[in-house]
Amino acid sequence: MVPELIINQSRGLHGQVDLAGAKNAVLVIMSSLILTEGKSIITNVPCSDDVLNMAQLLTDLGAEVLFDAEAHRLEIDTRKLMRHQVSAAIMKKMRASILVMGPLLARFGRAHVALPGGCTLGKRSIDYHLTNFKKMGATIQVQDEQLIASAPILKAQRLVLDYPSVGATENAMMAATLVRGVTRIINAALEPEVFDLIDVLKKMGAHITIEVPATILIEGVDRLHAVEHAVIADRLEAGAFILAAAVTGGSIVLPQAPAFALDLFLEKLEEMGHEILIDPSGVGITFHASDEPHAVSFKTAPYPGFPTDLQAPMMVAQCLARGNSIIEETVFENRLVHVQELVKMGAQIQVEGSRAMIIGVPSLHGASVQATDIRAGCALVLAGLAAEGTTYFSGMHHLNRGYDRLIEKLQKLGALIYLPDVILAQQEIAQGSCALSGPK
Ligand code: EPU
Repeated sequence: MVPELIINQSRGLHGQVDLAGAKNAVLVIMSSLILTEGKSIITNVPCSDDVLNMAQLLTDLGAEVLFDAEAHRLEIDTRKLMRHQVSAAIMKKMRASILVMGPLLARFGRAHVALPGGCTLGKRSIDYHLTNFKKMGATIQVQDEQLIASAPILKAQRLVLDYPSVGATENAMMAATLVRGVTRIINAALEPEVFDLIDVLKKMGAHITIEVPATILIEGVDRLHAVEHAVIADRLEAGAFILAAAVTGGSIVLPQAPAFALDLFLEKLEEMGHEILIDPSGVGITFHASDEPHAVSFKTAPYPGFPTDLQAPMMVAQCLARGNSIIEETVFENRLVHVQELVKMGAQIQVEGSRAMIIGVPSLHGASVQATDIRAGCALVLAGLAAEGTTYFSGMHHLNRGYDRLIEKLQKLGALIYLPDVILAQQEIAQGSCALSGPK
């Protein structure tokens, strides 16, 4: 296995990080632009491969997309977006590609897509998405991993989700925006990224309200218009940098961090003994690591529960804390694959089903490790920064999909983390996908 990153122990990461916009908000927002005809401007866009993939997908459909990575600014003109068929190659690159199905059905009454790819975290079925579309009147044929959906007229419906799926909520909501009548999504996901999408849809002219405890009501309108929107800051990137400071015994200032969207995560860190200062506005976090953190247990759950996307990075902090802890993953069925890599680094973890039992150790040691998904990649980088010696990391494409310039930002905090010369040379030849600006 050729390492794509070399990580040396880095004590006391220290400094300030400017967070990027949330990956899981920007992808669905880009997809929602299919509902409009006009030129939208999206700012605070993270520079990540998934953004480039979604830009490519929209371009293939006929949109004109201009991404200025330096300015974190996307201009998307959907006036010539006329196609409703997405190639399997682009669908396979990320799970979020399924989020074009709702907008395509709403705008064209047709969608021809392939089953999506993305991180392997279990079965990751899309049955809720399809059930909702069928309830709304779509017919869907599944042939050789292709989904061919048709709905000359979508109908407003009462959609009850078995589980508050983020993607199924977003897809149904987008599909309903142009449907006559009131669609209700009951047991809807209410993640901060879902709210950012609601904000964008309302700016487009959609009528959306929320009823307690978790119902989204969408009253259809005839048309939606182009928007300008700044994407919310990435709470998961904030979590990653806080944990980088936690496991290296450092301190960090995150002026844009949405503390209001990280309550349980921050609570658990305080329980560990770390010091957290939150700006009274709810945005902005200053974090100082404790010298002797103690272990805490937690289980993942839909928002406002503990975010599954911070489970793997938070596990690294438990591996190095005093005492024992139990982490239970309830959102995805196969999201403990990083455990075997952490064990290679000296962590003491036993997995039983969806639970990981951890005995804190005084230190980890470097090893060759491989990431299998975005957040596992983040966890292994953090473990490498905390571990004695050198860690050889591979699976860089996972990090590139989910994080905005992670390595560069960590280096600025004092992290001893490098791309091997051979990869740097390759990047120079390719000029780096994110350094590109201009039409995509
Ligand atoms: N599920 C079904 N059927 C469905 C939809 C979901 O069984 O039709 C199951 C899934 O298999 C999973 C659970 O429901 O076990 C939750 O899935 P959900 O639909 O909520 O997740 P998602 O929309 O596929 C988004 C994020 C994930 C994040 C989850 C949970 C995007 C692009 N992805 O995925 O982000 O973990 O919500 O918060 O928004 C990541 O960023 O690394 C990532 C995986």
